[in-house]
Amino acid sequence: MCGIVGYIGNKDAKEILIEGLRELEYRGYDSAGLAILNSGEFNIYKAVGKLKNLEEKTKDFTTSGFSVGIAHTRWATHGKPTELNAHPHLGEESYVVHNGIIENYIELKKELEKKGVGFLSQTDTEVIVHRFEDNKKTIADNFKAFETTINELDGAYAILLVTKSSDDKIFFAKKGSPLLVGKDSNGNVYFASSDTAVIGKAEEVYYLEDDEYGYAGKNDIAVFDKSGNKKSLTFKRLSTNKLSAQKEGYRFFMEKEIYEQSEVIADTMLGRLKDEEVFFEEIDDSFFDGIDEIKFCACGTSYHAALSCAYLFERVAKIKTSVEIASELRYKEPLLTKNTLFVVISQSGETADTLETLKMAKKAGLKTLAVCNVDNSSMVRTADTTILTRAGIEKGVASTKAFATQVCVLWMLSLFMAGKKGTISKESLKEQLHLLRELPKVLKVKQKLHDRIKKLSKRYLHGHGFFFIGRDVFYPLALEGALKLKEISYLHAEGYPSGEMKHGPIALADPELFTIALLPQNLLYEKTKSNIEELSARDSTICIISSKNEEIADDFIKIDEHSHYMLEFFEMMVVLQLLSLEISVRLGNDVDMPRNLAKSVTVE
Ligand code: AGP
Repeated sequence: MCGIVGYIGNKDAKEILIEGLRELEYRGYDSAGLAILNSGEFNIYKAVGKLKNLEEKTKDFTTSGFSVGIAHTRWATHGKPTELNAHPHLGEESYVVHNGIIENYIELKKELEKKGVGFLSQTDTEVIVHRFEDNKKTIADNFKAFETTINELDGAYAILLVTKSSDDKIFFAKKGSPLLVGKDSNGNVYFASSDTAVIGKAEEVYYLEDDEYGYAGKNDIAVFDKSGNKKSLTFKRLSTNKLSAQKEGYRFFMEKEIYEQSEVIADTMLGRLKDEEVFFEEIDDSFFDGIDEIKFCACGTSYHAALSCAYLFERVAKIKTSVEIASELRYKEPLLTKNTLFVVISQSGETADTLETLKMAKKAGLKTLAVCNVDNSSMVRTADTTILTRAGIEKGVASTKAFATQVCVLWMLSLFMAGKKGTISKESLKEQLHLLRELPKVLKVKQKLHDRIKKLSKRYLHGHGFFFIGRDVFYPLALEGALKLKEISYLHAEGYPSGEMKHGPIALADPELFTIALLPQNLLYEKTKSNIEELSARDSTICIISSKNEEIADDFIKIDEHSHYMLEFFEMMVVLQLLSLEISVRLGNDVDMPRNLAKSVTVE
């Protein structure tokens, strides 16, 4: 998830672009860059790291007179955070910035390399500008060449492109990643990934729809739909409150990130689901040679993601799998054998305990893999290879979309391994791929559900504690639900295997003990239901999350009916996230910055 900004007009384009990027840093900041076309010449600046490095590089540069400019702050999905990989990307006389993922970039790049085109970066984005310039050789009109280029791209994108031979225009296109175009009463034109970047500049904006594209010049904005028909645009007046704009109307970043899960999970899967197989460009076929065991290691929510998917690796990929809490593994003098693949899961890639276990595994000669959300983090630089979760920046301390994308990556990895080992039939694999493609829809928050949870949350503000219970993959999900509640409401909660309640914890059952029961229809339904009945018989207050109500429930949160338990898993995950959010809001807590917690625990 990156941030892009564009400007056309007579103001100081550098200032406008830098200020815009500063408002978008929450979308990603491992590198940044800008390109300004002024008096027929390009001025290009790029810097690795936070935006202040780019500001330092451009501090003596200003523009005067008319110019067009594009800028970008990057959250790496392809290629390390380096200056070469930072946007804008250059062709012969054109620059491009892009947010999203070009799924067919490998094919496009190979075709261009055959024509002798040289690539400077490892990114998918660079193919856009080279394809455009290749098309320009046979298509005289630059906009037509741009239009042809866009039609060649598969995947998700928000694109701004400038070229010397159209030095008063910006070409743009939007599909799957956000992009708006704005204007003011002096004919200045602005582009941005979100309106935070243009508040105080643009007076009104138009939010582009998927498959819309066009060109803009001074006093001129033309937008076309997928069929090439020019659209008449209805601009909206722009709000003036920056922080609420960064939260894009949500009360908290955590709430925004729960709603974003539907969008980012599509990025997580982009380029990785083929017609009949899972594909990870980061992993070559020999990577699993000699591996007959997997050991996951993580902390907190990331540990829950690993625990959830360990069931899938044993069930589907038929490989012995274990899961360790990093702070425990560090000091237990573990038996680490060379035939074990050591996998660390981490949103930040900086968690001290997890990082230390990764170093232990490497020292013991194990093959290592990091499933991580932050490229160039310590774990990414230490592991043999990495699979990025592509969740974009997660600002809420209580992890939501990072967890969802971790489970998605691990689910895909279990299928990838099963495919390599031949432990899954082609038909079953295709069914699983279909289920994965359902996730963006499953994760879309239904307002009716959110309203129901908001209403229900008033009943759960006291009591002497919560049990979250579930079986199989729903047990780690219960742990995660309990952690979410503890983190942001400060109420005591624990996750428990529902089959374990009768081995002691049921002694706590009474009307003041709240049980949140995860009751899937597609996995161990009867077993889980009987555990719930045991609690209900002892007068525990029970809230069931399921697609079908049960008369034993005091409260019931309905999810959709699904054909597979993993889809039930993801929809129940959203319910648990929203439930902890709404309870915390009612208790008046700081949802995004809960007491005593840090986003990344870089100390022991
Ligand atoms: C999750 O909501 C917490 N913020 C915390 O448990 C977190 O998952 C844990 O500290 C691990 O962080 P990491 O994923 O960045 O390694």
